Formats: sequence, C-alpha cells, structure tokens
Amino acid sequence: MTIATTIEEAGFQPASRIASIGVSTILQIGARANAMKREGLPVIILGAGEPDFDTPDNVKEAAKAAIDRGETKYTALDGSPELKKAIAGKFLRENGIDYAVDEITVAAGAKQILFNAFMASLNPGDEVIIPTPYWTSYSDIVEICGGVPVLIPCDAAAGFRLKADQLEKAITPKTRWLLLNSPSNPSGAAYSQADYLPLIEVMLRHPHVWLMVDDMYEHIVYDGFRFTTPVAIEPRLKSRALTVNGVSKAYAMTGWRIGYAGGPKALIKAMAVIQSQATSCPCSVSQAAAIAALNGPQDFLRERTASFQKRRDLVVGRLNAIEGLDCLVPEGAFYTFSGCAGVLGTTTPSGKTIATDADFCAYLLDEAHVAVVPGSAFGLSPYFRISYATSETDLVEALDRIERACAALRR
Ligand SMILES: Cc1ncc(COP(=O)(O)O)c(C=O)c1O
Repeated sequence: MTIATTIEEAGFQPASRIASIGVSTILQIGARANAMKREGLPVIILGAGEPDFDTPDNVKEAAKAAIDRGETKYTALDGSPELKKAIAGKFLRENGIDYAVDEITVAAGAKQILFNAFMASLNPGDEVIIPTPYWTSYSDIVEICGGVPVLIPCDAAAGFRLKADQLEKAITPKTRWLLLNSPSNPSGAAYSQADYLPLIEVMLRHPHVWLMVDDMYEHIVYDGFRFTTPVAIEPRLKSRALTVNGVSKAYAMTGWRIGYAGGPKALIKAMAVIQSQATSCPCSVSQAAAIAALNGPQDFLRERTASFQKRRDLVVGRLNAIEGLDCLVPEGAFYTFSGCAGVLGTTTPSGKTIATDADFCAYLLDEAHVAVVPGSAFGLSPYFRISYATSETDLVEALDRIERACAALRR
C-alpha cells in the first residue's frame, strides 16, 4: 500500500515526490506483530534494527555533564568543532583517512546524512546505482530527492556483493552515485579489500560517478574480518566519495540520533544548506555524548561483537538444518538473510500456498508467531531477514518454532 492510497482516502493529495513511496514493510510487520502481542499472543519479533545492549555509561555521563554545563542551545550548523575533531580523529585512527574538519558533517543520524547528500546533489532523473538486497531507506530517499534508483540484484551465489561487470553495465551518462553498504543491512555481507578493488577500478574509469559508502556496521564484523572502506584503499576517490558512518549501531546509540560523514568540502557545504532548512543542528547533548563515544574506551566493542558472533552462529546453524532454508554465513552486522526458495510451492496446514517470501513470512507470523522480514522488502527474493540482536532464549524459541512451522508444510 502506498502512502498515496492511504492519504488520498482521507481526501488529501500527496506531493508527487512521495506518490510511489510505500509504507515500510518492516514497520507494517512490526505494527502487526505488536498488535498480536497486545492481544496476548506470544509473538517473538526478530525485526529490530538496533543492538539490544545499553549505551555505555561513559557516554551517558558525558551527556549529563553537557546538560549541567548548559550545552543545551543551538550548536554550529553541521556539528560542533569538538565533535568534528573527534570524528576526524576516528577516521584517521580507524580508517587511515585524513579528513579536515571542514570535510566533515554531522546530522541527526546517518539517515539524515544520506538524505542531505542526495537532496544536495540529485537533479530529477539522476541515477543512483544500488545493489540489492539494500537497506529499505536507500531507494525511498533517492526517490524523494528526485533521483532514480537503479537496482542491481546481487544474490547469495554472488555473496550478496556487487561485481565489477555488473557495475560497468549499470553506469550511464545519468549515473550520479554508486551507493554501497558494508557490512550490509540486511545481508550482513561485507566487502574485503579484494572485493572492493575491481569496483574501484571501474569507478576510476568513470569520473562522473560519485561513491557513497555506508559504513554504519563497521565495528560489528566476525571471524577476524578486516574492515576497510574505499577511500582508505584508493585516495584518488576521496574527491568524489562520501564516507558515511555513525554512532547508532557500534555504541548502541540509536535514540541519540548522531550520524556523520567525510567528503569533499563543496558537497559538505551543500549538505549543510539542506540541513539548515530542515533540522538546523543535531542535538547538542547527543553531540557531547558522541564525542565521549568516539574518544572514550573502545574495548567493550570486542565483547559485544563476540556476543553477536555467538548468536550469528546459533542462528545460521539452526537455519541451515531446516529443510527448504539456506543461509550464507554473514561477515558482519546483526542480520541473517536466508534463502527460502525450498519452501516455495508448499502448502500450509490451513491450506494456503506459499508462493513468495512474503507468504512465508506471513505464515511464520500467523502460525508460529515469529516476526521476520521478507526479502522483497529489501529488493531481493526469495529470502527473509532475521535480526539476531535479541536474547539467546528468544532466538532459540523462535528457531524452534520456525523449524516446526517448516516441518508442517506439505510438499
Ligand atoms: C545500513 C544502515 N545505514 C544507516 C542506518 C541509519 O542509522 P542512523 O540511526 O544513524 O540514522 C541504518 C539503520 O538501520 C542502517 O541499517
């Protein structure tokens, strides 16, 4: 259902820029699952896009101290100088990229960073290449900003990663951006240096194409995976790349709303123009908290990642033991993106045919009371996403139910 349909029913004509944007499937499933919970059904929701850990104490203390110091007013438009300095320090220390403070911007979450960047750079009809499966917001933001998402399927056989020949074929004179995300929401797939190099080669041959990389899950990688980012690999890309990151996932700070990016000065300035007429500055208290997150102790990240890795192994192992499901081992983030081609064409005990991944997820919610998200919501079918950022007890119970639900399908 599109927003247009729902709003027009109430006699309102939405702007054409949102006419084709659908209400997020993830939100719809979440709303339905919560309604079922309120009715007393024992629903387990494996849809959360946020860590189940708490914000670290030193970060909370820094926010309280900022309030006590009176840091409760507008700050510099796209981030306080102190926070920009902390971000520059992070980019240099962790990624080996030397961004000056005027090459850094801060917004109310990485989502607003993406919005600012596309709003500031896309003209109607400009194309943005997005590999699928993709984080659902990407294509909607591009469309709201007047651009055209060019979706390139990258399935499990490709490790959910874009290949150089696919990129080469997708580039046209109208291509403005290539948007990459590593580790990925929803697949958990990450690009190693070796994966990035052939894509970088293509990028160097097409200087009119800019690169946006979303490194939001940088710190959540497993099995010793070495995270890297394109500008660190190829400095020649720095003049036309935006390296996006934030504190939401690594520091369990989703509610504080701080995202940031490094990029060329002219783009950063244009993004500030958009932000100046949207939200002015990011929250002053959250900025103080983000400084503490970036400059403070980092050792807890290892412990939290180890806990996620244990849950990843549990989920992947259980899924692969179920007939009809097939799950790649993700390199990072806290999601699995399991294939479910093997359950298509089966019939549920109540006589419904499972024709799509959305049917399968609806069956799991209705009959097993487990909420997961179909691949169609992320632009690639037939798959489904599990977020394992939840307790091991709930995961085990949910996987038991999924296993029983799959065993009950008639083949
Ligand atoms: C890949 C990716 N990028 C960005 C974001 C948004 O992060 P923020 O909370 O900083 O807006 C998310 C949140 O789910 C995400 O999954």
